[in-house]
Amino acid sequence: MLITFEGIDGAGKSTQIQELVHALSARSIEAVTLREPGGTAVAEKIRQILLESSHEISPIGELLLFSASRAELVQEVIVPALANGKTVILDRFFDSTTAYQGYGRGIDLELLRSIIAISTCGITPDITFYLDLEPEEAMKRKFSKTSIPLAFEGDELDRMERSGLEFYRNVRQGYLDIMHIKSERFVWINALDPVAVIHSRIIALLDERFLQNQSSYDERNAMGTSKSKKERFL
Ligand SMILES: Nc1ncnc2c1ncn2[C@@H]1O[C@H](COP(=O)(O)OP(=O)(O)OP(=O)(O)O)[C@@H](O)[C@H]1O
Ligand SMILES: [Mg+2]
Repeated sequence: MLITFEGIDGAGKSTQIQELVHALSARSIEAVTLREPGGTAVAEKIRQILLESSHEISPIGELLLFSASRAELVQEVIVPALANGKTVILDRFFDSTTAYQGYGRGIDLELLRSIIAISTCGITPDITFYLDLEPEEAMKRKFSKTSIPLAFEGDELDRMERSGLEFYRNVRQGYLDIMHIKSERFVWINALDPVAVIHSRIIALLDERFLQNQSSYDERNAMGTSKSKKERFL
């Protein structure tokens, strides 16, 4: 089973993933938890370039770097884990590319679709929790301040986060559009709700959809994964 978390920086993805991992572990379900970009030696190096670098990176360069990192993660870690029936939890996946590089940077969505298909080997999440938050609120959280800063600026922020409020408004709009198109797998979560309330909702939804029938679900998932792997070479 592949569970992804999406949302703008500061929406609460890492917080909820941590809660979910504890809850699953209490049920003796060991989840493989990964973050994008990163998760392999090469992908972590690409992460450094993408987030820590003070260099300018062109939108297409950025897209290809994120995609290269994803290709490594998918082939080295995600495909084998799913094939072994593991529960994989991903902190960002290709919806981030559509939202950030498509709606945020303005790259053609059709082009993104092709690159996403290549970098993911066609793997799609079973469920995506989208934590929805206005960029102004996300900023407050990042800085733990009550006032809204004028822009995403400053040394504490990574390269993506320095892109500005307007960029993040577009990214959020992107997520909302994807949610309407992919309504069967996207779950909208009000990220303003308390951590515990969000966590309960996530557990209730997973219980309802998958966890009660974990073993048969993982069997089907493993079969589906090997099929995608084969299709990759056709
Ligand atoms: N539901 C919530 N209500 C209030 N504060 C929250 C909530 N969830 C998380 N936070 C706080 O907001 C901040 C950002 O949360 P977190 O790091 O989980 O976000 P994130 O989506 O993983 O961000 P990033 O994309 O930058 O990694 C943290 O200080 C966290 O404690
Ligand atoms: Mg995080």
